[in-house]
Amino acid sequence: MAIQLGDTAPDFTQESTIGPINFHEWAGDSWVILFSHPKDYTPVCTTELGTVAKLKPEFDSRNVKPIGLSVDPLKDHEGWSKDIEETQGAALNFPLIADADRKVSTLYGMIHPNADNTFTVRSVFIIGPDKKVKLTLTYPASAGRNFNEILRVIDSLQLTANYKVATPANWNPGDDVIIVPTVSNEEAATLFPAGFTQIKPYLRTTKQPNL
Ligand code: BEZ
Repeated sequence: MAIQLGDTAPDFTQESTIGPINFHEWAGDSWVILFSHPKDYTPVCTTELGTVAKLKPEFDSRNVKPIGLSVDPLKDHEGWSKDIEETQGAALNFPLIADADRKVSTLYGMIHPNADNTFTVRSVFIIGPDKKVKLTLTYPASAGRNFNEILRVIDSLQLTANYKVATPANWNPGDDVIIVPTVSNEEAATLFPAGFTQIKPYLRTTKQPNL
């Protein structure tokens, strides 16, 4: 069955560019973004891995560990890493799983046979420090992912994990947020001392509480 939000992210041990990784142990108390790539030595994947390497300080500042996966062997990952550094201006600074036996891809449902029998699709799993799956995304091989959007949604996930708020359409950090419907107006007055605006009884906004 497909991995669903709230599930415990399956644990595994697999080869990677930083040596064998036991996933839960490696994740520790951090958030994790686990993302798959269809194949080594492919153009879109090359740009994606370079982009994540350049954004690593942004992931670090959010306590998020990136980890990539491709179903090719370690030897290919090592050769491809040199190309990534050469062409993208950033060396891999996070592990890339060598899932040649497809153990992890199968565990996480990253191969969608009706799209492609051999390669993984572009899956994203964002996992919290409690090892629960907080968000999943699936892109086809032809569409590179927007990692700025992934950082944005991590900001939303981390904010809403700590406060009784949700983020509206097209929210960006610093914008007003929505008070969740289970909070009464009396409770909202205590929880959000900056005040709130009631547009409808079910639609109330307040300043982002952690600023
Ligand atoms: C790519 O990463 O460029 C790619 C991989 C598989 C199919 C199409 C594009």
